[in-house]
Amino acid sequence: MNAIFERTSVRQYTNKKADPKTIETILKAGCAAPSAVNKQPWELIVVTDPARLAELAKFSPYAVCVQDAAFAVVVCADTNRHFGDAYDVQDLSALSENMLIEAKDLGLGGVWLGGYPETDRVDWLRRYFDLPDSIQPYWVLSFGYPAHDLEPKQKWDPARIHWETFEK
Ligand SMILES: Cc1cc2nc3c(=O)[nH]c(=O)nc-3n(C[C@H](O)[C@H](O)[C@H](O)COP(=O)(O)O)c2cc1C
Repeated sequence: MNAIFERTSVRQYTNKKADPKTIETILKAGCAAPSAVNKQPWELIVVTDPARLAELAKFSPYAVCVQDAAFAVVVCADTNRHFGDAYDVQDLSALSENMLIEAKDLGLGGVWLGGYPETDRVDWLRRYFDLPDSIQPYWVLSFGYPAHDLEPKQKWDPARIHWETFEK
């Protein structure tokens, strides 16, 4: 699938908005992810309002790109409906990567903006969205139409692959 190989983190966007159908398709791609014991613990807060995006950009020192995003998704877990905190991280990671790849496939770009395990960032999200105790925020995904063409980073290194045994 080309979108997997062509995806790269996009932090600069044009001012083009994403239509609701496009946003929904990206969200559906996320929710098609595998999930431990099929608990699907995800709860997603979609932010499209420019004033709220400008505020959300303050959740982390490394999230300034959110202020120019077409939309952002705050990735959370419902701890009343999960298999365990450690599984939430894995389920939400699978969901997030699906969304980034789908965005690429639809001509958008996105970037994963780290929250967990930085407690100050997670606490910021909890306060800003006034989340109930059972909803655990993890991180934010920022999406928009890329302002520039970007080449994906080359990561493939056959030396990292170990066939049958871990030879030393
Ligand atoms: C868990 C995680 C946290 C990240 N946090 C940030 C972040 O806070 N800000 C940012 O600009 N990029 C963040 N990134 C994006 C990485 O910097 C990026 O994926 C990495 O440099 C590889 O580049 P690529 O995505 O273009 O392949 C994060 C990625 C992951 C997986």
